[in-house]
Amino acid sequence: MVGLNALVAMATILLVVAASPSTGEFVFQDIFNDPERDSLLHGTFPEGFIWGASTAAYQIEGAWDEEGKGPNVWDVFTHIPGKTHQDQTGDVACDSYHNYQRDIEMLQELGLTHYRFSLSWARIFPTGFTIQANEAALKYYHAVIDGLLAAGIQPAVTLYHFDLPHVLEEIGGWENEMMALYFQAYADFCFNEFGDKVKLWFTINEPKVIAIQGYEAGIFAPGKTRPGYGTYRAVHTMIKAHARAWHTYDQKYRPQQGGKISIVFNSFWSEPADPNSAADRAAADRMRMFELGSVANPIFGNGDYPDVVKQAVANLSALQELTVSRLPVFTEQEKLLIKGTADFFGLNHYSTRFVAHKEAIFNPVPTVFDDMQAEFSSDPAWPQAASEWLKVVPWGFRGLLNWVKENYGDVPIYVTENGVSEPDGPMNLDDELRCKYYRAYLNEALKASKVDGVNLRGYFAWTLMDNFEWASGFSERFGLYHVDFNDPARTRRAKKSAATFAQIVKENGFPAADAEAKTEL
Ligand SMILES: *[C@@H]1O[C@H](CO)[C@@H](O)[C@H](O)[C@H]1NC(C)=O
Repeated sequence: MVGLNALVAMATILLVVAASPSTGEFVFQDIFNDPERDSLLHGTFPEGFIWGASTAAYQIEGAWDEEGKGPNVWDVFTHIPGKTHQDQTGDVACDSYHNYQRDIEMLQELGLTHYRFSLSWARIFPTGFTIQANEAALKYYHAVIDGLLAAGIQPAVTLYHFDLPHVLEEIGGWENEMMALYFQAYADFCFNEFGDKVKLWFTINEPKVIAIQGYEAGIFAPGKTRPGYGTYRAVHTMIKAHARAWHTYDQKYRPQQGGKISIVFNSFWSEPADPNSAADRAAADRMRMFELGSVANPIFGNGDYPDVVKQAVANLSALQELTVSRLPVFTEQEKLLIKGTADFFGLNHYSTRFVAHKEAIFNPVPTVFDDMQAEFSSDPAWPQAASEWLKVVPWGFRGLLNWVKENYGDVPIYVTENGVSEPDGPMNLDDELRCKYYRAYLNEALKASKVDGVNLRGYFAWTLMDNFEWASGFSERFGLYHVDFNDPARTRRAKKSAATFAQIVKENGFPAADAEAKTEL
């Protein structure tokens, strides 16, 4: 028996070695060149792998007040001086409201199977409430969807990507628990209207970003600052809104329409600053739970927030002499409503950071950042994107994908966003950093899939073309295609990375030129 075990162990090792990188090829030869960790793996993604690019309505559509569209929180926010880079707005953006046919052409050039875009809630329902849909909006989205289908590309639709109708914000936005019901009604309408053609749905994009930036830090729309409370209250309502929308689809539409629906999370990879420090390891784990677990555990776990998050917020609340924790509580009935409301795990990922433990301090003004008891840092050698927060660390992607599998089991994962920004400046189509980013990050995804057995089913690049990057305006360019924002036609031009990405898509990964020789051991 021992002999057999040893044989099995050896076979396993051989298998890992066979699938492990050992080619001696590196994407970032000078920075990430650990042969075990960083060398390029040859191989392909599973059959039927989904390849897409993502966008969001406010970032590309423009036509902010055309043909009956109502104002949303970003329309209002960007029109307040001082809120965005050089007071830039998404009033016109890429003007995709008029240029969507060119967008579809670009998706075809990339050879993609799917296009992830979002519906503008306030374009469809100018008042936010589900009364009197705007016919022009329905006509527009049907034209986009029909155009995609005619081009052989599947629509993958986000119901809500940051742009809450302004009228709904005026009655409290996500701090108002009624929003869960209003969102459910809006989702119900969209499933009924578009669901015979749309088979992949996302309810809410990045609830944590909306909550922290919009309701705590106030640097994104709606620009509210409720330190220590805003994040938790907004997230609490969004989780319930998502769950209600999922049940509506599951009960009312899935039997006829047969699609899949989930939510989209965002997460860094948090690596302990000192791997030998138990406190730093705990801080990194706490950070993963705050950032990703606090939205993923309710849905993919036991219906509730992670214990470590509940404890940390309760501890800090007690320190602030509050009689109850600032973290809201789900009722048992709500936990049952929320648990299991996802058909797959939607994950946006860009970057990695080191996390060190920070002692809890008494701060009379509570903040979600104090609650985390974490301090962030990075390695100065990591390549820096135009976005201050975005350092290029390919191996962190593999760590995060494995963490999802370890915590939530064999759930199918779609990476719904991944990409890198360059600064605005004279037109540069030779985007070397982005070419390397996609090769390196996608190769780490391949290792997660082939070597680690992570159930990765699809990947969407962020983003199809340069667009309005929220508070950063047009100063950070994330596109595979360049957009000339000084040109009234908003001309799009393929960057070098478009060809790099298209090649990986076409080959479904990284087959070696001499695939036979390299898979032989
Ligand atoms: C909360 O406080 C308790 C009691 O002091 C401590 O044991 C626990 O580690 C703390 N948890 C967190 C996450 O801060």
